[in-house]
Amino acid sequence: MLLLAIESSCDETAVAVMSGEPGRPARILASEISSQIELHRVYGGVVPEIASRNHSLHLRPLVEQALKHAGVAIHEIDAFAATSGPGLASSLLIGATAAKAMAAATGKPFLAVNHLEGHLLSPFVDRGVVPEHLALIVSGGHTLLLDVAGPGRYRKLGSTRDDAAGEAFDKVAKMLGLPYPGGPEIEKAALGGNPEAFAFPRSMMKEPGFDFSFSGLKTAVLYTLSERNPETGTPLPGELPDLCASFQQAVIDVLVTKTLRAARHAGRRTIALSGGVSLNKALRAAFEAACQREGLTLATATPGLCTDNAAMIAFAALLRAFEGQSSPLDGDIDPNLPLVSA
Ligand code: KG4
Ligand code: ZN
Repeated sequence: MLLLAIESSCDETAVAVMSGEPGRPARILASEISSQIELHRVYGGVVPEIASRNHSLHLRPLVEQALKHAGVAIHEIDAFAATSGPGLASSLLIGATAAKAMAAATGKPFLAVNHLEGHLLSPFVDRGVVPEHLALIVSGGHTLLLDVAGPGRYRKLGSTRDDAAGEAFDKVAKMLGLPYPGGPEIEKAALGGNPEAFAFPRSMMKEPGFDFSFSGLKTAVLYTLSERNPETGTPLPGELPDLCASFQQAVIDVLVTKTLRAARHAGRRTIALSGGVSLNKALRAAFEAACQREGLTLATATPGLCTDNAAMIAFAALLRAFEGQSSPLDGDIDPNLPLVSA
């Protein structure tokens, strides 16, 4: 089966062409991304109006580029997929409408995909099968712990009560005068720092349950900055690495502790990490060490599949297409589309 997928939920326009057959590793024939990060950087975050305009500008050439790289003609595609939520409404509409139009024009099925399901399944693209596991999705918009019995069989165990992990990285980076997106910047600055230099809080770590909270940590960094440098509230010279390393460690400690606790609770022996924050090398190393200690298997996505991309959307759609599923062409996008109904 050949599938073309579009991802346009936020600030990346992405198109992928994937081939696959049931139970076999999926093959990414093309995975094109046109990033808008530079356009939004001056505003310190994503501006929805700018995002949707750029999706509509870049989508068509990107589809053509993806087909060319894959060496496939549009009439050879068996199904078209697009992210239908969660995300920015005007951005989602561009990708979903384009995929539906291609499906209608070629008479092929359309599949609407939940962006979070794309992230969730991304560590398993190169296996082609999804084992039962405990999943941690850590992105700019979500922090989610799920018990996964198999594709489409998800039970939510916990999520963030306020900021997502990536959002905390982005907001703290802004306070520290680092550019957007903040995650990679904090990781870089933390390299020479001491993770124990500042005792930042590990929120909700001792409480039962599997929810997270990162807003207290963000406020703690803010208070520390204004205490250390009341004049400007910016880091004192030379303190940036310690601040970044200590903040990063606080996020990592909470994520690792709660995820392992959830795996124990659900009786799962495999942990899968996905989403942009899962690119963080210190986070990966902490999970690798913890999983080794507990005899668990760790699955991570290849770097190109961690941040927003269309190959993960193609894979989620492919698994559903194998089951003969498709979505109606008159279905709507949903900015708040839940992965698991409450
Ligand atoms: O999954 P993603 O591309 O988009 C969403 O669906 O949100 O995640 C983007 C988030 C941003 O908050 C970014 O700062 C964070 O992932 N991120 C990182 C790293 N690379 C990206 N956070 C920590 N360390 C990184 N190396
Ligand atoms: Zn994402």
